[in-house]
Amino acid sequence: MWPELAQLKADFDQALASAGTDPQRLEEVRIRFAGRKSGALRLLEEQLKRLPKEEKPTFGKELNQLKAYIEEQLAVALAQVRQARGVGEQVDVTLPGRKPALGALHPVTLVRREIEDIFLRMGYSVADGPEVEDDWHNFEALNIPPDHPARDTQDTFYLPGGLLLRTHTSPVQIRTMEAFRPPIRVIIPGRVYRRDSDLRHSPMFHQVEGLVVDEGVSFAHLKATLEAFVHRLFDPSLQVRLRPSFFPFTEPSAEVDITCVLCRGGGCGVCSGSGWVEILGAGMVDPRVFRAVGIDPVRYTGFAFGLGLDRVAMLKYRIPDLRLLFSGDERLLRQFPGGLAR
Ligand code: DAH
Repeated sequence: MWPELAQLKADFDQALASAGTDPQRLEEVRIRFAGRKSGALRLLEEQLKRLPKEEKPTFGKELNQLKAYIEEQLAVALAQVRQARGVGEQVDVTLPGRKPALGALHPVTLVRREIEDIFLRMGYSVADGPEVEDDWHNFEALNIPPDHPARDTQDTFYLPGGLLLRTHTSPVQIRTMEAFRPPIRVIIPGRVYRRDSDLRHSPMFHQVEGLVVDEGVSFAHLKATLEAFVHRLFDPSLQVRLRPSFFPFTEPSAEVDITCVLCRGGGCGVCSGSGWVEILGAGMVDPRVFRAVGIDPVRYTGFAFGLGLDRVAMLKYRIPDLRLLFSGDERLLRQFPGGLAR
């Protein structure tokens, strides 16, 4: 090797070694040896031009080799610097960004809002009331005295001080009639509680109560209202069936079925082969209820209904198991409009 080149290589090796992984000092080494204007290699290239013809080829070849060596060593050193700085500082701008996870509306909320919309368009208002109730609103005023057998079917969570968790949304009928005079047209969605827990029952579930009070309100109004509602919520081909029933706060009373949404009446597991599913209870407001809130039962009549919101959500979205609704399972929630981002 030419002595100048050997010397330069030795100087470079030493300078590089002492620069370590200090980026500033590495840059100085680069300028000193490989700088374009007056780096050591550049100066040797000038020198090459002035050499006698016969010496040029060997010097030129060795110079090129040294140049390649120096460039490679500098590249290796710079790579080490980047690594030493740590992964955290390396930004790959080509990676796709992280999407924020969007929340989703629960199927029960979706159906509740849809039901509210349907009744709002029919001229109803949306009302609500407390989930912790007293005996008067939950039972007495609804014509359910203390020894009434209807209390047994509504296994109640009692609280200290004579309070309880409301077993239905019907107490808000009472609160509404205590606060407003007819004409009244309200729906009341809300949570209700019963000491029931198995495959088909949750200790907390949802109802939507409806109440209409005015002069001349008839059972025909009730039936037409429920039909219009069912046809808008599901579809107009579904049939609505009223079966005679009993509730202490309505007379006459009915339980209301619709054509099974899943089998269209043919019979399936959801409707136990009957082709019908029950979605609500309803009836004409009992005169005793009117008297309890000081509304004249001769002048006014009214109808009321209580709908199982969870059941309707399950039918509407074909959810097979009630417990799925309250499990908080994101795999369920993702399947609804505006569902959680993946
Ligand atoms: N409160 C009843 C229940 O929880 C449902 C109900 C039936 C509500 C008839 C009503 C009604 O307003 O008229 O089982």
